[in-house]
Amino acid sequence: MRNRRAALAAVASAASLALALSACGQNSEGGSKDDKGSAKGGTIGIAMPTKSSERWIADGNNVVKDLKAKGYQTKLVYGEDDPDQQVSQIENLITQGVKGLIIAAIDNKSLNNVLQEAADANIPVIAYDRLILGSKNVDYYASFDNTKVGELQANYIVDKLGLKDGKGPFNIELFAGSNDDNNTKYFFNGAMSVLKPYIDSKKLVVRSGQTALNKVTTLRWDGATAQKRMDDILTSSYKSQKVDAVLSPYDGISIGILSSLKSDGYGSKSKPLPVVTGQDAELASVKSIIAGEQTQTVYKDTRKLADVAAGMVDDVLNSKKPEVNDTQTYDNGSKVVPSYLLQPVSVDKTNYEDVLVKGGYYTDAELK
Ligand code: GAL
Repeated sequence: MRNRRAALAAVASAASLALALSACGQNSEGGSKDDKGSAKGGTIGIAMPTKSSERWIADGNNVVKDLKAKGYQTKLVYGEDDPDQQVSQIENLITQGVKGLIIAAIDNKSLNNVLQEAADANIPVIAYDRLILGSKNVDYYASFDNTKVGELQANYIVDKLGLKDGKGPFNIELFAGSNDDNNTKYFFNGAMSVLKPYIDSKKLVVRSGQTALNKVTTLRWDGATAQKRMDDILTSSYKSQKVDAVLSPYDGISIGILSSLKSDGYGSKSKPLPVVTGQDAELASVKSIIAGEQTQTVYKDTRKLADVAAGMVDDVLNSKKPEVNDTQTYDNGSKVVPSYLLQPVSVDKTNYEDVLVKGGYYTDAELK
């Protein structure tokens, strides 16, 4: 690129230079001419929820990588689980003149005003992983089949306990994600569609009595909050009983639950750990699975998600219609947001090697 531009600069007039630049694809709005030879220009703003979980760090890095490969510059920000901070970060991105926004919301209902500002500035918005609610200014949604995530967790519990073979009754406790995350109810409802018949027939017993979504959520997906709730449940409902399974929606929550269980003496021959599910295949949880503590996780290949989201914003900016595979499920209260949903995969001790290591997500060395 540099040589070519130098050669071009050596050729005569400003007019012919302008022509030549447009021939190699640089846009007229002072788009970037980075060293990789891309000349598409424009900066995309990426707003991620928190660095406290590995997955979002990987998501941010992957989106940046994919957008750079498509010739964009990027500005990546993390809101540290503070909705107000995320709003002001997005406002800043708009002020800085980003051409598109990819947002994984912290609080799905707090972005209405700032998305109006984006729309006024003609900036397309892709909701990343978590749907943004109540705003018509969400152009596309890139995520996973979130109902299936919950089904995978619940089916795992059903299989592991042998419920289909008539075994039971077993004791189970239920945990859900943050109530301000739209995914939470999809995960929970997906899981409950599988578990409820067993709860109704008393093959699964929730000794705490906490079965309604609003009784089992975990604000901001916080592991310590889940640990505290599990402590309280063990004290109040399991003095003379044992927990056989815990529906956990996310690895960070599973870690909190496992700490609570271990401090209560679970994890020995006479008091084995219950089946504990999870989500995200975070490194610490995959290690915990290998060590025989957490039982399962749901793997979502964030490399693919990043790829879909970057492709969507690129298509919209080039007046192309992004590919979607769901135009019905994700009604945000203002519109049904056209979505591309990827497939989640259940992972446990028996298949982590095949899925995660052979799939290039982790190396064996990382899992040691
Ligand atoms: C959800 C996401 C999950 C998990 C959770 C906590 O929105 O879909 O995969 O990451 O947030 O970060």
